[in-house]
Amino acid sequence: MALTHGAEIQELARLIAACQHLVVFTGAGVSTESGIPDFRGPDGIWTKFNSSDFTFQKFLTSPETRRTSWQRFRANPAHDAQPNPAHHAIAELERLGKLDCVITQNVDNLHEKAGNTHVIELHGTLKWVICLECGHRYASREVRLWLEDGETVPTCRECGGLLKSATVSFGQPMPERETAEAERRSRRCDLFLVVGSSLVVYPAAFMPVYALEAGAKLAIVNLQPTPLDQRADVVLHAQAGEALPHVVSEVKRLLEA
Ligand code: APR
Repeated sequence: MALTHGAEIQELARLIAACQHLVVFTGAGVSTESGIPDFRGPDGIWTKFNSSDFTFQKFLTSPETRRTSWQRFRANPAHDAQPNPAHHAIAELERLGKLDCVITQNVDNLHEKAGNTHVIELHGTLKWVICLECGHRYASREVRLWLEDGETVPTCRECGGLLKSATVSFGQPMPERETAEAERRSRRCDLFLVVGSSLVVYPAAFMPVYALEAGAKLAIVNLQPTPLDQRADVVLHAQAGEALPHVVSEVKRLLEA
């Protein structure tokens, strides 16, 4: 691994060792090595399902969409997935004192499981299920038991309202506080590292642009090309779980030098 991407790994480590405010921005690609499929890669979810069938509007109006959404929720490998070496490398950057925060589009909670303490979840989380009527919150593991007991479209035990996982679907409003905080930190950083995102879904994909506008350097670790590759100081088309541990051990060497 290191042999084929040695120069990029060295350059990325140098930028991280020299920066003051690193923001790491992640997408589904950081979790594929944990067994969670991405959306737009060769075997991505949107190559099997039609994303327009899973909008918030359809969830509210179509019983069939709710039924298939809860089937997907129940079968989602993210519930029981574990962090992979990419997550652990990003947590190590926090322990080294080099990380301002992680901004993630993922809902799998794997950055927290790996030990990161400042994670901004732009698209919500699979950890909770929320009642769309009264706002009551349930732990997902509790709702998974109801589904295992045969419920197909669970409803709120408090008010009978519709329940939905606390993730943000297409057409659903983004969490305001998290989005504002992510923009503020993207505009304050001096190095913005993208890991495992196709950078095609907005407003999340504005974050690296805010960083560039603020004069930050941009680094991208992603298997496939992204629309921002041309504007990046370093691009690493490699498996994050293989590349990032090499980057972090090089950062440590530079910090000790
Ligand atoms: N290492 C590095 N890159 C990887 C790896 C890996 N192990 N596995 C996949 N990738 C890359 C893919 O090549 C792809 O370009 O990660 C990228 C993932 O892109 P998407 O599947 O589009 O995921 P993401 O960018 O997170 O999507 C954003 O779209 O459907 C919505 O809400 C959903 O949060 C998601 C949003």
